[in-house]
Amino acid sequence: MQTLRDLPTLRVALSELRGDGGKLALVPTMGALHDGHMALVEEARRLVGHAGRVAVSIFVNPRQFGPNEDLEAYPRREAKDSSMLQAAGVDILWMPTVDVMYPAGFASNIVVSGVSEGLDGAARPGHFDGVATVVTKLFNQVRPDIAIFGEKDYQQLAVIRRMVADLDMGIDIVGMPTQRAEDGLALSSRNAYLTDEERKAALALPRALGEAKRQMEKGATVESAIAKAIAMLASHGFGTIDYVTLCDAATLAPMTVLDRPARLLGAAKLGKTRLIDNIAVLPL
Ligand code: PAJ
Repeated sequence: MQTLRDLPTLRVALSELRGDGGKLALVPTMGALHDGHMALVEEARRLVGHAGRVAVSIFVNPRQFGPNEDLEAYPRREAKDSSMLQAAGVDILWMPTVDVMYPAGFASNIVVSGVSEGLDGAARPGHFDGVATVVTKLFNQVRPDIAIFGEKDYQQLAVIRRMVADLDMGIDIVGMPTQRAEDGLALSSRNAYLTDEERKAALALPRALGEAKRQMEKGATVESAIAKAIAMLASHGFGTIDYVTLCDAATLAPMTVLDRPARLLGAAKLGKTRLIDNIAVLPL
């Protein structure tokens, strides 16, 4: 595995690998890797085969964190991440510094309207501009044929699909199902913030969404199922509940009646930790 931190050496490494003619897959991450990330890396390898190449980026992107969010606290574990990726057979680890990504004078911003506006877009103003901008830069730097993203960040995946289509980026975007701990909590780098007690209470998020899904699929109204999910979160100690919303599975437009394939998305805070999760909901 080659680890690159500046653009000139990345370009040399890529052109050497590219010479082999196989496909190149990119898995963008912010590091503190867990089995959710590693599932994306394995899928990347599977998709490109042995003739292909897998690149992973690790970059904690300041532009997608709000002023009162956890940019400083976000876990950074370079040595461990690097050995996990090496063991997984990754070809290129792209780890640019903030100065390489955003040199003095940087003045551009990618805004994807519509799909980025509700849910986390409303709760975290500017977040998806930061994501779209950095992902565009990562795509331009690495120029992959395929890029893999997790359904854990369902709205992010939808924003990136929209952006790639709108801007003719010509990259295949592949979505991977959410990887969960044995008890059902979605794996997340932010789970490292949870105390033991919070870790137990956190399970209420997947359980509340799962229960609401079952009720809606049995014919309960969307409104009543969501109200119960919110009550369950509150009773397990979640403080701010940013949203529990049923949305169109593709456009993320809010839905009040389950009449087409949908996604139930939730975001709430447990102590200082903001958790998100989502689940597919199918019409009767
Ligand atoms: P990060 O949170 O590190 O996640 C990197 C990728 O791993 C994302 O596509 C995310 O959806 C996926 N992922 C995280 N947890 C997962 C899980 N439990 N199961 C499946 N996939 C999971 O998302 C970001 O970084 C950033 O916003 C980024 C796209 C890198 C842009 O900065």
